Amino acid sequence: MSERDRWATRVGLVLAMAGNAVGLGNFLRFPVQAAQNGGGAFMIPYFISFLLLGIPLMWVEWTIGRYGGRYGHSSLPGMFDKMWKHPAAKYLGVLGLIMPVAVMIYYTYVESWSLGYAIFTATGKYWGNDTAASMGSFLAGYQGWGGPDNPFFSGISWAWLMFIITLSVNVYVLSKGISGGIEVVARYALPALFVLAAILVIRVLLLGAPDPAQPDFSVSTGMGFIWNPQLDQLADPGIWLAAAGQIFFTLSLGMGTIHCYASYLAESDDIALTGLATASTNEFAEVVLGGTLAIPAAVAFFGLDATQELAKDSYNLAFAVMPALFQKFPFGQLFGTLWFGLLFIAGITSSLAQGQPLLSFMQEEYGFTRKKAALVLGLIVFVLCQPVIFFVNHGWLNEMDYWAGTFGLVILATVEIILFAWIFGMKKGWDEMTRGADIRIPLIFRFIITWVTPLLLLIILGRWAILELPGKLMMTDVAEVDKPYVLGARLVMLAGFVALCLLVRHAWKKRERAESEVEA
Ligand code: ALA
Repeated sequence: MSERDRWATRVGLVLAMAGNAVGLGNFLRFPVQAAQNGGGAFMIPYFISFLLLGIPLMWVEWTIGRYGGRYGHSSLPGMFDKMWKHPAAKYLGVLGLIMPVAVMIYYTYVESWSLGYAIFTATGKYWGNDTAASMGSFLAGYQGWGGPDNPFFSGISWAWLMFIITLSVNVYVLSKGISGGIEVVARYALPALFVLAAILVIRVLLLGAPDPAQPDFSVSTGMGFIWNPQLDQLADPGIWLAAAGQIFFTLSLGMGTIHCYASYLAESDDIALTGLATASTNEFAEVVLGGTLAIPAAVAFFGLDATQELAKDSYNLAFAVMPALFQKFPFGQLFGTLWFGLLFIAGITSSLAQGQPLLSFMQEEYGFTRKKAALVLGLIVFVLCQPVIFFVNHGWLNEMDYWAGTFGLVILATVEIILFAWIFGMKKGWDEMTRGADIRIPLIFRFIITWVTPLLLLIILGRWAILELPGKLMMTDVAEVDKPYVLGARLVMLAGFVALCLLVRHAWKKRERAESEVEA
């Protein structure tokens, strides 16, 4: 067997892990979640979720990953199998294969919009259409559902081309491996991302109140909206769920990607400090940078009420509201290009992480070369993204985001924490977690991981199962015309899950046969 790939440097690892976490979620999803859930009312549950779910799960995932890597496993079926000697363990691990690839399918598509919009902004393609409504029409045209009279696009070719380019870049980098591909990209992309974000933040802060006749239309109103705590809304459970969901998505928890990256560590490399450092880097990028961009800028030009209305949809905020407002100040074209460039960079360092678990699985369990595995992954994502592209207005993308990018993360996180704390055992788990640690993890986290995090996850899941699941399954909120598409998206994901279970079964049988031959 060939030598396992490894991270070349600790800095590279931290940057790659931070790149995994910092993504579209920080700049697109976070502001929208904050705006929809009462701004300041959202931040308290958000920070509590970070402490009680985010940090503990981050350490648990790093530990599971490094532990699995010791046995040559970089994807969850193998990791869970090593932690729990039960035939079901490896199938539970399939969640860590299907989830990241399902997210990658639609995530890469959204990432490719940023590439397209960076080009349109730099070339001024939509310049002169400076209302959110006209930019909404531009977005619909780009996505191919603007109708025959759309003034901007006659078909979907631009969106399709941008997707092909974006996917090809992902596949190329993945084919170069952990240290030769992902780490190299992270070393350039992450610093670039922070520089771009810092430039944009300064620009937004300097906007002040651009229209003297409307002093309330200001950056400070926007900042106040996000930061003034509103304690009276804390009793609303919906806000707590939204906050927990955002913590999962933004930290890439419950996705299978953190484990996979951590598996390329050496046995006693520190994970305590490095895990905490990447989680904190992500939070800085999200709260300080992400929180200071879209919402305050939109409030400065459109006012708070309109912003709350416009921010009902994350894609609308980033791809319609932002391009409209860049047209309203000097050098807006430059800053707009930087904004979409920022989204693209943030996106790609995360989509690489989403591709890696399945790629590692193909290499380790089926002996594929890295290049072949990357090509097969690319082909799968290409084919399964077609309905996402063509049926985006029928809810295909949102359906995948709901099951894989929201609900699925909580399921996988619940499974892994129970497996870790209760089946693998907290004593062994704690020893693993603290081995080689460069900081002392406070003992209270042993209690939190054993009791608090699993309990909170079970409460979230229970509440969801009672209040949301029946309506979701019956598609009560789905328009009649969209139902076949929503069902289609579900069936494709289910088929993917079943197919991966069969592949895992086959791989294990093969290995058992090989082992018994060696013994004989
Ligand atoms: N954690 C990644 C993001 O925030 C998936 O976009």
